[in-house]
Amino acid sequence: MDQIIVRGNGPLNGEIPIAGAKNACLTLMPATLLTDQPLTLTNAPRLSDIRTMTELLRSLGAEVASLQDGQVLALSSHDLNNHTADYDIVRKMRASILVLGPMLARDGHAVVSLPGGCAIGARPVDLHLKALEAMGAELDLRDGYVHAKAPAGGLKGAVIDFPLVSVGATENALMAATLARGTTVIRNAAREPEIVDLAHCLRRMGAQIEGEGTSTITVEGVRALGGATHPVVTDRIELGTYMLAPAICGGEVECLGGRIDLLAAFCEKLDAAGVSVTETDRGLKVSRKNGKVRAVDVVTEPFPGFPTDLQAQMMALLCTAEGTSVLEEKIFENRFMHAPELTRMGARIEVHGGHATVHGVSRLRGAPVMATDLRASVSLILAGLAAEGETIVSRVYHLDRGYEKVVRKLRGVGAQIERIKETPAHD
Ligand code: UD1
Repeated sequence: MDQIIVRGNGPLNGEIPIAGAKNACLTLMPATLLTDQPLTLTNAPRLSDIRTMTELLRSLGAEVASLQDGQVLALSSHDLNNHTADYDIVRKMRASILVLGPMLARDGHAVVSLPGGCAIGARPVDLHLKALEAMGAELDLRDGYVHAKAPAGGLKGAVIDFPLVSVGATENALMAATLARGTTVIRNAAREPEIVDLAHCLRRMGAQIEGEGTSTITVEGVRALGGATHPVVTDRIELGTYMLAPAICGGEVECLGGRIDLLAAFCEKLDAAGVSVTETDRGLKVSRKNGKVRAVDVVTEPFPGFPTDLQAQMMALLCTAEGTSVLEEKIFENRFMHAPELTRMGARIEVHGGHATVHGVSRLRGAPVMATDLRASVSLILAGLAAEGETIVSRVYHLDRGYEKVVRKLRGVGAQIERIKETPAHD
């Protein structure tokens, strides 16, 4: 297993290109299952989660070709010869559940392994299942699998009223509804940019959708969808992560392809903390306003609120801010695993249930730390950039799930960071 070594250094300057969104791509790829025509995705990120989704779709009989060094994915589900998503793949990645709605809508049956728990909480899939049941699906949970069948004649349009906002359940319901008979109304729908991107792609494929980006999405089912070419939206989480690098280290970094509308709540918090964000014709330029960063309180919420996927990275910034910040995590329980690792680097953090109180210290110190999940791992790298001495981050396979070329991108703005093969432990 590899490790990443970060040495604390001075200001970062230059530009960082932002990739297409992992979370958008992971829902756009299963959309291929809705049609026998080709679907081409451009601006795809090169990540291990994308390779896992590729493996899953291929196991179902879809063709997935990775072109132009992985930035273009050519998908075709002309002949699906298997309707079972196996535990061995699904357990690697929860987003695998997104094949359920499309397979059921197109072919009337699907068997998908239930994803297990994961490091950041229980994360059930009950809302995905309830949405499909509302559309007439019969579901049978046996041996760790969901066995799903559509009624004769296919799924039926329905009113789906989600009791809480779920990105994945909205995506599954939206995809299924495109081929259902009649009208589907999704209430309390997620409003994330990745949902809007999915709706745009489905519309290019011939779907009739209104209201994406609001909490009510209306879908008029059509008989069949066709092919399309669609560019994946910018990764707002990768964007926010790299925006924090100059906020933490000083300097000025331009994040190419960045847009404020993808991250308005996050940008407001940066402004309150003393970090300036300006729009340029190529993206967003970020620097500290007057050298100092001030404490701010943060509450994670569904879009357009502050994203849970940037909470760990924001905590890395607040560790050395002036004053005390409180971060409240409202989306996932148990999403403060980075706090004890940051504490090993000299941060002063107290965690009580869903709240973390961060007392700013003047300096962090490098230390050996362990990545516990995707976003936690990058928060340790950000903290390492601001720390005195050397930080060694282990278990970086988490990072490969969601950040392409992280070492190259950070070196490009002057960071001292390298990836090495882990030294085997001695007996
Ligand atoms: C997606 C993102 C993830 C992000 C999260 C919240 C992808 C691939 N992943 O995950 O990076 O952190 O949105 O922005 O897009 N819930 C239920 N029942 C369900 C589904 C969800 O109770 O059936 C709960 C979850 O446990 C969680 C909350 O709803 O507490 C929100 O989860 P959800 O929006 O579904 O997250 P994901 O789609 O899994």
